[in-house]
Amino acid sequence: MNDTGPPKGTERLLVVSNRLPVTVSRVEGGGFEYTPSVGGLATSLNALREEMDMLWLGTPGLHIEDPSEQQQLVEELGREFDSVPLFLEREDFDLYYDGFSNGCLWPLFHYFPQFAHFDQREWDAYRAVNSTFARRIAEIARPYDSIWVHDYHLLLLPTLLRQSLPEASIGYFLHIPFPSFEIFRMLPWREQILSGMIGADLIGFHTYGYARHFLSSLLRILGLEQNFGRVTVGDRVIQVETFPLGIDTERYAQAHELPQVKSRLLELKDEIGGEKVILSVDRLDFTKGILERLTAYEQFLEAHPEWQERVSLISLLVPSRTRVPEYQNLKSQVDEQIGRINGEFGQPGWTPVTYLYRSLPFEQLASLYLLADVALVTPLRDGMNLVAKEYLATRADGTGVLVLSETAGAAAELGEALIVNPHDKEGLVEALHQALSMPVEAQQARNKPMRARLSRYDIQRWTDEFLSQLHGLREERRLQLPRRLQDNHRVELLQAYRNAERRLLLLDYDGTLVPFAQTPEGAGPDAALLKLLKSLATVPHNQVVVISGRNAGTLEAWLGTTGADLVAEHGARIQRAGEDAWEPFPESIEGAWKEQLRPLFEVFVDRTPGSLLEEKGAALVWHYRRSDPGLGSQRAAELTEALEGYIANTNLHVLQGHKVVEVKPSTISKGRAAGPWLHTNPAPDFILVLGDDVTDEAMFDAVPEEAWTVKIGSPQGSHARFYLSDTTDARELLHTLSTGS
Ligand code: ADP
Ligand code: G6P
Repeated sequence: MNDTGPPKGTERLLVVSNRLPVTVSRVEGGGFEYTPSVGGLATSLNALREEMDMLWLGTPGLHIEDPSEQQQLVEELGREFDSVPLFLEREDFDLYYDGFSNGCLWPLFHYFPQFAHFDQREWDAYRAVNSTFARRIAEIARPYDSIWVHDYHLLLLPTLLRQSLPEASIGYFLHIPFPSFEIFRMLPWREQILSGMIGADLIGFHTYGYARHFLSSLLRILGLEQNFGRVTVGDRVIQVETFPLGIDTERYAQAHELPQVKSRLLELKDEIGGEKVILSVDRLDFTKGILERLTAYEQFLEAHPEWQERVSLISLLVPSRTRVPEYQNLKSQVDEQIGRINGEFGQPGWTPVTYLYRSLPFEQLASLYLLADVALVTPLRDGMNLVAKEYLATRADGTGVLVLSETAGAAAELGEALIVNPHDKEGLVEALHQALSMPVEAQQARNKPMRARLSRYDIQRWTDEFLSQLHGLREERRLQLPRRLQDNHRVELLQAYRNAERRLLLLDYDGTLVPFAQTPEGAGPDAALLKLLKSLATVPHNQVVVISGRNAGTLEAWLGTTGADLVAEHGARIQRAGEDAWEPFPESIEGAWKEQLRPLFEVFVDRTPGSLLEEKGAALVWHYRRSDPGLGSQRAAELTEALEGYIANTNLHVLQGHKVVEVKPSTISKGRAAGPWLHTNPAPDFILVLGDDVTDEAMFDAVPEEAWTVKIGSPQGSHARFYLSDTTDARELLHTLSTGS
């Protein structure tokens, strides 16, 4: 990342979603027509186009193969809508959109696993289309653009983009629920999906619950732990956050003043007469609870005959995904049920359910919101649900009753509505009765705080918060130390090494020279490592010290012949190369503390399958690498807390490392352990320190500022000057020294 940041005026926002904010269709006689796209994503983000320098990439909504027509569309969409259409092969698109996106991810993420099909061809097409998006973006992205990817059609895109644009600022927002781990784990490609998402710097969800589900899947499936929503992924840190999507509140709040809205409202009132109106507005989707709602309305008319001929349900349904079989079945079931209700209850001059199956322009939709005494928003599952918010915002006089499902994301913000369980028919009947009978003052009292919230947290605020967090993360990364050890640093380092007369190499072992293994015994050195250490240690003027948390016996058995000095148990014991004896730690570490703490550790070993206790001369260590990741990290936090209680006011110290919790005397640290090699006379004139763990930070702190300190793994929170990704990089650096000297 460039150290000075983007020059002014060069930043642009690239928004990427499956569907462009306008849908293209052909007009008879040639040319194209553009209509606003339906659905929460398009209607909310449409408002942004006026606000910022942005470019929107997505599919245009129809297939065009003729190159000259494609060109015409590129020009018109670019000029009129700041949009770039992506043209896909018809078969690929169908398998990706109708197939994997809407036939697998959509039902699964909305808790309809019985509708989800897991089809290899659809998955292959999904991957291929995500790659096509990535390639197209790489063609149009400029160096300082931020890229904001939206929704479940493009879950693999963040990591694909990260591969081609490693320094880009990438945000991702999921507009649908993220399901609980037990549902998500059903997906045969669950690892790939999560790995695809974590290429983003910032991952946003509508509610805290969805973010929590995502973090729990990350932990259980990829073993990635979080800390306040921050997750370390290789050498990057990503942030998982909650941003509840808002609407263009002002536009809805002012709609009642528009002349077309006023006249349409009068017409509607005239048609309806004195009846009360219940309104529902949805895409025709099985997640929206349309059949359950109709049944509840039918039961309401039966249970409360006094409302017959005094109330009418207007159901506005917009066609959606009509090629997916579950949607086609639903359409015929809805037709049938409405026909039955109207046949059974209808009277001359009273139609219990009025049904519109089309998209309406804004003014007509707003008139319906103003007409309706009750909005019945009862999805079985919904990521957010904007209709609920639009209804409240449009009713500028604060009247109207919102009946809202607890399983819509919006319920997290609209708690003063009549909250219902959409599966509970009796509860729905009761809520309808309560809604229709509610006095105006009570309606206004409930709506007031919700309307105030909608004004504060509108679409503008949503975008601002997401983008400012995304920019904040970029800034943090830019200023963040350590920096990646790049080729130019390597040249400098090698030069310093060559010029030096007394070189000191302080090397951690686990996670630095060898990757972690399932058990502590499994991480012994391979022949290449032994050779590498020998070749470095035998160079005159080189002093190689392996400073490890391991016990003395293991270190000696593994590394005793390399010619390196060995420091065991974070400094508790020292063995100089060529000597048999281990020097004891200079300060007393004996005491009864191990006996006292061992039972507590044993309780945690019993309660956590796969975990084990390791006893070292000066430490007790609980390892949980082989345990269930969720359980392991939860127990680690509990054990740490319990230990901290026990050891308060002692000279003991508890620390959490990589899948370990360790207690040892606080007088022992790798920083102090390095002392005898640092404070020599004359002092070393080249110092390299490699370490991956919190215990290695003490070494980074103990050496002079100009020393070459390199953190292996995530740079987050480290005091080292540089970082490298993993043990392979670390060994490669040492190899450069061994051959370049
Ligand atoms: P989803 O994103 O699942 O479609 P939302 O409730 O979040 O559900 O968003 C639906 C959006 O589509 C709302 O902005 C709503 O105004 C709009 N909409 C739904 N039905 C119609 C319709 N028949 N005509 C016009 N707009 C509609
Ligand atoms: C939901 C999804 C959007 C989608 C919209 C309409 O809001 O979250 O990504 O665009 O439904 O669905 P469609 O399949 O017509 O794009």
